[in-house]
Amino acid sequence: MQVLSSVHAFQNQCLDLRCSGRVTALVPTMGYFHEGHLSLMRWARENADTVLVSLFVNPAQFGPAEDLDRYPRDLERDQDLARESGVDILFTPQADEVYSPNHDTWVDVPGLSTYLCGQSRPHFFRGVCTVVCKLLNMALPHTAVFGQKDWQQMVVITRMARDLNLPVQIVGRPIVREEDGLAMSSRNAYLSDQERRQAAHIYAGLQYIQDWVRDGETGTAKLKSRLEDYYARNIPSGRIDYVHFVHPWELTPVDRIDSQVLAAVAVHVGSARLIDNMLIQG
Ligand code: PAJ
Repeated sequence: MQVLSSVHAFQNQCLDLRCSGRVTALVPTMGYFHEGHLSLMRWARENADTVLVSLFVNPAQFGPAEDLDRYPRDLERDQDLARESGVDILFTPQADEVYSPNHDTWVDVPGLSTYLCGQSRPHFFRGVCTVVCKLLNMALPHTAVFGQKDWQQMVVITRMARDLNLPVQIVGRPIVREEDGLAMSSRNAYLSDQERRQAAHIYAGLQYIQDWVRDGETGTAKLKSRLEDYYARNIPSGRIDYVHFVHPWELTPVDRIDSQVLAAVAVHVGSARLIDNMLIQG
């Protein structure tokens, strides 16, 4: 595995790869790898000739009061895990090379970005889209792989790629969970033992709602209040950011579950803001 930190060197190498006809897949990440990240790398390994992984904690997607400074980092461990997962090139650029001091161009998907996480993180998707667009231009991959844990991110990036005719296929992969159901996340490292136990109820709550739907409840107002009550009872150190039932690809609110609906939640537990989601069949 090669480790490159120069944007110029990475872009040149990726251009050569693309011209040589090899099929490349890019997995964009912010590091501190867990099984969720590794599952994307393994998928890329099985479906492409060359696997590119970017590891970049993108300042543009963090708000001023968010956790950029304390975001967990462990480059040495990440390098080992990436190597073991069959990654060919690990790209680890520095922020001042990715963003010039007079950087002035942003990619925005304003409609889809207003829903769900966009409410409490107004600049988040602009930061994500800009960096992903830049990474795609550097890596020129045939495929870019994203996790469904960040469902809205996957939807926003898919729309961006379509609207801008980016020559890449966006692939979404399933959520990888801990044994008790908690969606794996680098931010789980912020949780105390007690918070960690409570955080497992984020997913258990989604399953509880799925059971109500199976039993015939389809009104989302009722399901939302049941889920909020469940979280209030089972996650006493938690504070709900949102509980929404939306169209999976438009992210618009739905009143009834009569086709496939995305239940999406964000809950603050201790100092971590955790998100999760589940597709629910009507
Ligand atoms: P990061 O949080 O490091 O996640 C990198 C990729 O791993 C994303 O596509 C994310 O959805 C996926 N992922 C994280 N946890 C997962 C899990 N439990 N199961 C499956 N996939 C999971 O998302 C970002 O970084 C950044 O916003 C980025 C796209 C790199 C842009 O900076």
